[in-house]
Amino acid sequence: MPKIKHERMEEIRHMENVFEWSDYNSAHPFPKGTWNSGIFGNDHPIVLELACGKGEYSRGLGKLYPNKNFIGFDIKGNRLWVGAKQALEQGLDNVRYFRAYIDHLDQFFDENEIDEIWIIFPDPQLKKDRKKLTSPKFLQLYRPLLKKGATINLKTDSPELYEFTKEVIEEQGLNLHRDIGDVYSECPDDPELSIRTYYEGMHLKKGRTIRFLSFSLD
Ligand SMILES: C[S@@+](CC[C@H](N)C(=O)[O-])C[C@H]1O[C@@H](n2cnc3c(N)ncnc32)[C@H](O)[C@@H]1O
Repeated sequence: MPKIKHERMEEIRHMENVFEWSDYNSAHPFPKGTWNSGIFGNDHPIVLELACGKGEYSRGLGKLYPNKNFIGFDIKGNRLWVGAKQALEQGLDNVRYFRAYIDHLDQFFDENEIDEIWIIFPDPQLKKDRKKLTSPKFLQLYRPLLKKGATINLKTDSPELYEFTKEVIEEQGLNLHRDIGDVYSECPDDPELSIRTYYEGMHLKKGRTIRFLSFSLD
């Protein structure tokens, strides 16, 4: 592993706004159900950013909504380091980052603990539907953890992932709230959708169209 990556991985272990979990069979489980009472110390809504990379959405939304709590999830520690460092420098008390596989989300959240999910430029996983973060398998993982009516928001440059997600929404009879086929033509001034991430920057440079879906499971 390159030295800088190694140093960042070490550093996030001691950062006050980062959690890290790798032993999914631990005899000492994560204290689920304490995000409000124990960690944020308030009763504000809990919002997740999945596959957050450098966590731009958690910080961007965290500034737009100081009365909501944000947790960015990713497995890559060197990317999370960038996000966590900036959140600390910007004094964002309502933002945390969590290094773990999303596949184990139910080890970190209690039933009905999450108010909203943002999935921002996830890997489209073109070859394996079950690995897509909006696949029925992942929706089944999120379902019990979400409050009733909680929205799941997907921003993507992948026409395949966008169409796949629309099919899942239709097949499963989910509630589609917003369907934007070209974010920057249709809603150029939307403050939530204008937050730019590292991957989005790369896609925009290549002239790719950015799409957005917002839906709820019930
Ligand atoms: C294409 S990047 C997008 C990062 C960021 N959202 C952005 O727009 O810049 C996808 C991210 O998903 C993370 N990821 C993919 N599968 C994951 C999983 N099962 N658990 C945790 N992180 C995952 C990768 O580590 C990577 O940082």
